[in-house]
This record gives sequence, structure tokens and C-alpha cells, in this order.
Amino acid sequence: MTNKLKYFIGNWKMFGDFGSFKIISKINQFCYKNRNVHKKKIVLCVPNILINFFNKKLKSKYLSLGAQNCHYHNSFGPFTGSVNASMLKKVGSKYIILGHSENRLEGDTNQIIKKKIISALDQNLNIIFCIGETHKEKIKKKTFSVLRKQIRNSLKKKFNINKIIFAYEPVWSIGTNKIPKKNELINTIKFIKRESKKYLSTKKMPKVLYGGSVNQKNIRLFSTISDIDGFLIGGASQSSKKFIDIIKNYYK
Ligand code: PGA
Repeated sequence: MTNKLKYFIGNWKMFGDFGSFKIISKINQFCYKNRNVHKKKIVLCVPNILINFFNKKLKSKYLSLGAQNCHYHNSFGPFTGSVNASMLKKVGSKYIILGHSENRLEGDTNQIIKKKIISALDQNLNIIFCIGETHKEKIKKKTFSVLRKQIRNSLKKKFNINKIIFAYEPVWSIGTNKIPKKNELINTIKFIKRESKKYLSTKKMPKVLYGGSVNQKNIRLFSTISDIDGFLIGGASQSSKKFIDIIKNYYK
């Protein structure tokens, strides 16, 4: 079994209210009980309105909280409905998801994502930078060129690689119960590592998570791929049992 650090990051999306504290509290208890077992980092990216509430109630060293997006503007400004990275940091976010395909669909371009990464790095947040191809792009065999473009157009060469974790999320796999073939996935994860390492001219091997329909069953298959540094888990992270079972089954 691996002794490499693995990430289990939940993306709650538009889910949850104050009552959902019971979910996060159960996950926190699991993290506490298993604090010395396996090198793992557990993060839950929840809606902005819950970050402060959860943070104060939990006061946990074993589970970190994160946000799911932010505005790129660094200070306060006339951006109705938006929050910036500094506001998210102040309420207790340690992590932030940027470039998620659901946000790309709503207009986030690589250029906008780059500005968001700059502002989040300014706040010393850890960035979960999502990239991935659509079904159409996959069929046209454009996966690698799409990923290369997302990496090069959203990242600056001088970005601090220690604060950026890549998440490979094929768009066709999100919420669909479809997952990539093992060989394809290994090749793609290796490609992202190679490509980003070269582009950022770093000696450090970039960390790459997989996301898309991860559940308590298919995690066994993913656990056989040592190149994957962890998982970004959507739907299944909204249930404490499913999320905990994913972690348990990973290490089985
Ligand atoms: P899913 O979502 O696990 O529900 O497929 C993953 C994500 O959107 O990050």
C-alpha cells in the first residue's frame, strides 16, 4: 500500500445548508480517528455561505475547508453577487477550486481562470485547478491538445507549483457514472504531469488528481493507478458514508 500523500477533496457544488454540518462532522470524526493512518489530506469545498459556520464549529486540524470559485478582482468592487479570494480566505478557506467545467460552461475562459489563480495565489490559497476535455473533443482525439492549451493559457510560468494541484476531470465523466479506461487515464495523468512540469520548468513533479463519477466501488480500480495523487469527488462527497467509504476502500 502506498505511503505517498493522497488527497480526497469533496466538491459539494450547490448543495447544503446549516443542517449539513452533521455530514461534515461525521467526516471530521473519521479524519480524527484515522489521523495517524495513511498519509492523506482531506478537504471539503462547500458553498461560500457555509465556510465560516463550518470552520468555527469544527475547529479541525484534520479536515480543511475550501471554496469552489471566486471573482478575479482582488479588492472590493462593483461585482454584484461575487466574492473574491481574500473574502474567502478570511472566512476560513484554505483551498479553492478554479477552472471547474461547470464554471467554464458559464463563461470562465482560460484567461479569466488565470486572473482568478493569480488572485487566489496572492491570498496564499491552495488551488485545485480543473482541466479536462469534452466528449466531442475526446472523440476527435483532441484530449492532449485541449489539456495543453488549458495549462498554458491559464498558468503563468512563474506560478508557485507548491500551491497548485491539478485535477483532471473529463467533462463527459462528471456526474454521468462514466469513467475513463484505465490505460487512457494513466496516459492522460502522465501527460498532464509531464506537460505542466515542462511548462512551469520545475524539478518538482506536479500533483494530479482525478475527478469524475468517483464512487465507493470504482475507487478500487483507481487505487491501482499510483500516478494519481488523489480525487476530486462531487456527488459522492455529499454523503458522509459514501465519502468515508471511498477513503476506506481506497486503502483496502
Ligand atoms: P462527480 O463530480 O463526482 O459528481 O462526477 C466531480 C466534480 O464535478 O468535481
